Amino acid sequence: MTVLGISAAATPNSRSELLLNSLLDEFSKTTRDVKKIFIRDLKISFCDGFRSCEKTGECKFADGMQVLEKAILSSDIVVVSAPIYFTSVPAKLKAVVDRCQLYWARKNILGTFSTSQKKGIFVSVSGRTQDFNHAETIIKAFFSVFNIKLCGKFYLPDTDKLDNTQFVKAEEDVKKLVTEVEDESNC
Ligand SMILES: Cc1cc2nc3c(=O)[nH]c(=O)nc-3n(C[C@H](O)[C@H](O)[C@H](O)COP(=O)(O)O)c2cc1C
Repeated sequence: MTVLGISAAATPNSRSELLLNSLLDEFSKTTRDVKKIFIRDLKISFCDGFRSCEKTGECKFADGMQVLEKAILSSDIVVVSAPIYFTSVPAKLKAVVDRCQLYWARKNILGTFSTSQKKGIFVSVSGRTQDFNHAETIIKAFFSVFNIKLCGKFYLPDTDKLDNTQFVKAEEDVKKLVTEVEDESNC
């Protein structure tokens, strides 16, 4: 089984990435193949909406999306972690999602793309809001093009006020997702 973690955090020690690390460490206990990709390290062009991919089945931009595509397609479980920025996901992750129009077109217009069913997890943190709905909707749309079902989620609000003890507890709590996604009734 291959597990891929995708971090949309701006910096390595950010809360969303520490939670991802904790979860992936837990997966590592039973799975040898655990990979991590940092969106901040990828060069990602913005979709220009020209829609040539809907005719050609190819994207005009050659960049980090190819790295991401290869990693996702070879994974069984995909975990995305992201902070909430202005009620949504950070812009670079949204740019990644917009570029998925290529796969949507291959799947729904050209009929040239299919992939095995995968399991997905979304981990998110916010400074204040309890509302993760916008971000979750975007992640579900991202997952759906790659046939990934959202089987587990972990949302940590109020990071502005969180002390270290509370965060350490969250790092433990997020690990429960490993057994949750393995339980077929959750997925
Ligand atoms: C650009 C920006 C926008 C933010 N927008 C929101 C927001 O809309 N709602 C909220 O509760 N917190 C917001 N925050 C706070 C972050 O969600 C919070 O600090 C979070 O812990 C950051 O995650 P990280 O530590 O993984 O980077 C924002 C932070 C930044 C930098």
